[in-house]
Amino acid sequence: MAQNKVEPQRRKGAKKNALRLCAFAVQTALLLSCTPSKTDTSKTLPEGSPKFQQYYVHGEELYLRYCSNCHQKNGAGLARLYPPVATSDYVDKNKDAVICLIRNGKSGPLIVNGISFDKLMQPIPALTDIEIAEIATYLYNTWNRREGIVEVQHVSKVLTSCDTASQ
Ligand code: HEC
Repeated sequence: MAQNKVEPQRRKGAKKNALRLCAFAVQTALLLSCTPSKTDTSKTLPEGSPKFQQYYVHGEELYLRYCSNCHQKNGAGLARLYPPVATSDYVDKNKDAVICLIRNGKSGPLIVNGISFDKLMQPIPALTDIEIAEIATYLYNTWNRREGIVEVQHVSKVLTSCDTASQ
């Protein structure tokens, strides 16, 4: 009984936190576009159009919600269980495959930075094309990558031709 009461409150709290985080991210974006200060070098928002900024900020939220449990907030992965996405030659070289695996998951052997993984990443079918574009924009513009926006049109096109047999 007591637990039933705690749940919704907790959720409210989480929502508030998410809102705060969002407001903070937008603020940071605005600040950084005016003053390229170096207060937090680990997290400098890349510059770009308002559309890019929006994709990036949403992408980060989605990454934290859907991916960081396994791949970690800093993208370093977790030992031999979850491969890294921050420094990853796989991510660098396979943008279209990465778009596909976000929607369809991935299984089977995989080599990242010379280390082999052979686990299962569950599909995340709930993600819309635009959300995948936002996550990809985040991935390809964080951790020393500066590849610019990943357009939703491109994502939608790639998603129709994913080789689901190998995923
Ligand atoms: C439940 C854990 C889990 C979650 C959540 C998860 N992944 Fe994965 N991911 C894995 C595993 C395990 C593999 C390796 C699959 C294999 O061995 O074939 C992988 C592989 C990958 C790869 C290719 C290898 C690499 O690291 O370069 C990318 C990119 C990736 N995931 C991105 C994401 C993104 C983006 C999300 C969120 C939308 C996500 N993953 C959510 C577990 C997860």
